[in-house]
Amino acid sequence: MRSELFFQAANFIQEKINISPKIGFILGSGLGVFADEIVNPVKISYDEIPGFPVSTVEGHKGQLVIGALEGVPVVAMQGRFHFYEGYSLDKVTFPVRVMKLIGVEKLVVTNAAGGINTSFEPGDLMLITDHINNMGKNPLIGPNDDAFGVRFPDMSISYCKQMRDKARQVAHNMGLALKEGIYVANTGPSYETPAEIRMLRKIGGDAVGMSTVPEVIVARHAGMNVLGISCISNMAAGILDQPLSHDEVIETTEKAKERFLMFVKELTKVL
Ligand code: HPA
Repeated sequence: MRSELFFQAANFIQEKINISPKIGFILGSGLGVFADEIVNPVKISYDEIPGFPVSTVEGHKGQLVIGALEGVPVVAMQGRFHFYEGYSLDKVTFPVRVMKLIGVEKLVVTNAAGGINTSFEPGDLMLITDHINNMGKNPLIGPNDDAFGVRFPDMSISYCKQMRDKARQVAHNMGLALKEGIYVANTGPSYETPAEIRMLRKIGGDAVGMSTVPEVIVARHAGMNVLGISCISNMAAGILDQPLSHDEVIETTEKAKERFLMFVKELTKVL
């Protein structure tokens, strides 16, 4: 993807705002309401922004929401792009580089995920300590864009230690039992088989989902600090004697939403 496209998108956004967002949020399934908490928001529909992927899903609210949250200038992606929808990883990660160009230094990524770790329960929030890219693809494949980062970026600390410490502290102060673990990204859209979940547990996975990792790789390439939070929306395949459904995922995130919103708002004050 050509660098100038990112700059065009960033310029377009900057002409519409008079703040420089410091924290960027990518909001996962059912967690988009978080953006409604932003005060004096400027909302920019994805389809207006040059180079931005266009949502193909009917009734899908795809917009950037820019404003203040707890007095901190932020930008939130209300609606993200998934690889399983047919977008290239260039498209999936395009907004991350645009966020970088408009001044975002810290990225908070959220998602709904299936619990692999049997000590988890649906509704738990999990701090992502590390990830396993099981998508069979990397968003940085192709010519390196030196404007953003190096050819071979280090991934030894992908999820910022200081930000994780702050998240633990905030959770503790709120009396919230924050779980921790490794997020595995699969492409989806089919859920995993029980055999696949046993394999993912053996290789160290605690939760599994269909997003986040491409965005985190591109953010780390560009030197952004990342915090990741999964909402455990269901137990992964084969753990319970019941089939998985997207309705269950939505229903559980709906229930966990209030806690999630409060937690991330409190976190914003200290990040
Ligand atoms: N597997 C993959 N992705 C998911 C799941 C799951 O069980 N739950 C929510 N996203």
